[in-house]
Amino acid sequence: MASYDYASTPMAALGGSMRDFRVPSGADLLGRIEGFYRWQDARRQGGLWPFSRSTQTGPGATVSASDDSGRSMDGVNFASQDYLSLASHPAIKETAQEAIARYGVHSAGSPALVGNTTHSIALERKIAEFLGMEEAVLFPTGWAAGYGVIRGLVRSADHIVMDQLAHACLQEGANAATRNIYQFRHLDTDHCRRWLSEIRAKDAENGVMVVTEGLFSMDSDTPNLVALQDLCHEYNATLVVDVAHDLGALGEDGRGHIGLQGMIGKIDLVMGSFSKTFASNGGFVACKNRAVKEYLRFYAPSTTFSNALSQAQAAVALKAFEIVESQEGVWRRAALMRNVLDLRAALRRSGLDYYGEPSAIVAVKMGGEALARLVSRQLPRLGLLANLVEYPAVGKGAARFRMQVMAGHTAQNIADAVERLAASVAIATQEYEMSKKPAQSAAAA
Ligand SMILES: Cc1ncc(COP(=O)(O)O)c(C=O)c1O
Repeated sequence: MASYDYASTPMAALGGSMRDFRVPSGADLLGRIEGFYRWQDARRQGGLWPFSRSTQTGPGATVSASDDSGRSMDGVNFASQDYLSLASHPAIKETAQEAIARYGVHSAGSPALVGNTTHSIALERKIAEFLGMEEAVLFPTGWAAGYGVIRGLVRSADHIVMDQLAHACLQEGANAATRNIYQFRHLDTDHCRRWLSEIRAKDAENGVMVVTEGLFSMDSDTPNLVALQDLCHEYNATLVVDVAHDLGALGEDGRGHIGLQGMIGKIDLVMGSFSKTFASNGGFVACKNRAVKEYLRFYAPSTTFSNALSQAQAAVALKAFEIVESQEGVWRRAALMRNVLDLRAALRRSGLDYYGEPSAIVAVKMGGEALARLVSRQLPRLGLLANLVEYPAVGKGAARFRMQVMAGHTAQNIADAVERLAASVAIATQEYEMSKKPAQSAAAA
């Protein structure tokens, strides 16, 4: 196990953020980005860069992983988004093997040309049926689906009203589509209404899209979908809901917050991903008629001009839907929720707090970035893999460890994780106090 020179942890590695390097200036496109690498490397050398890690095992309840300097760790895994533990399911593996044996590994074309396959067509049907919608259209990733549904439908004179915490794919799609973007305070339906009323008071001619998520991936909270869809009807706007994190994993029938809020078949556009619960890659947009599906296929550039899912990827997602819908899906979701509640209770007992409502995302509050980075250095040493989320992915001073719970975690995995996290926080708190001392004595001198 590598050790670090704790005493000489460079202050630069505890300060700064990715935001500092987002808009570099200078004529040399490649030269001007070097500052990012210097800052990142100071963090890396100090064991404070917990990103870009790789696993040597599958994404199970326990894992062997390495950081990007090659330092390895073994321990419990709360960093994978395989919420129902389907990635290692024998039927899923068998499905992938059969698809590869029969069709090979490549779709070799865009869905706008000849990239559709037996499985992708069946998968589109399955998604539409599962969500009570007429049609669905596939994308190569969830990111591409979020970007594509907005970029495909919204033009420069149109308006986008979106939750301020909407995922990067939705923000990027909005930025690419129009400059008329209005953010409403997180989950604040009244604020959304105020924007809609202001927009419609001035412009009845152009389109308005309202964008939110079923379950927010950093905060584990959910909007009032009924109220948002009503608002959209009232102001002639179109609602898009990203269900990447709740579809399949939440609600007794796995229909996530759309199901829990009685909105199956009632949301204008539902967008999602297979990369969490569905053990595959890919994304989709479900819609109410074929005209929308066909338009997206040819005007959403992230599908039109991109290679389609392979037979194996589509077959796995389809099989995952079958399990999600079955009795086994029900008990897997029940096991997941039991683990979520147990983890939340154990964290509380250890004096650790978390954000949001019970879901597979348990985001443990850390606060300041410096302390959170020091905790992230201890976690692998003590045997816990959990993702650090820090500014600008979340607010400044609101760093957190996003623990992602799986149905396959055991009670022991949860106990180990909480014990290791609490121990890491205790050690890091001391380190943090020490790291402030030289500055304090210099200030006093
Ligand atoms: C809310 C949300 N939407 C979309 C995506 C993108 O999904 P994918 O990983 O399939 O590209 C993610 C994944 O990070 C997400 O969290």
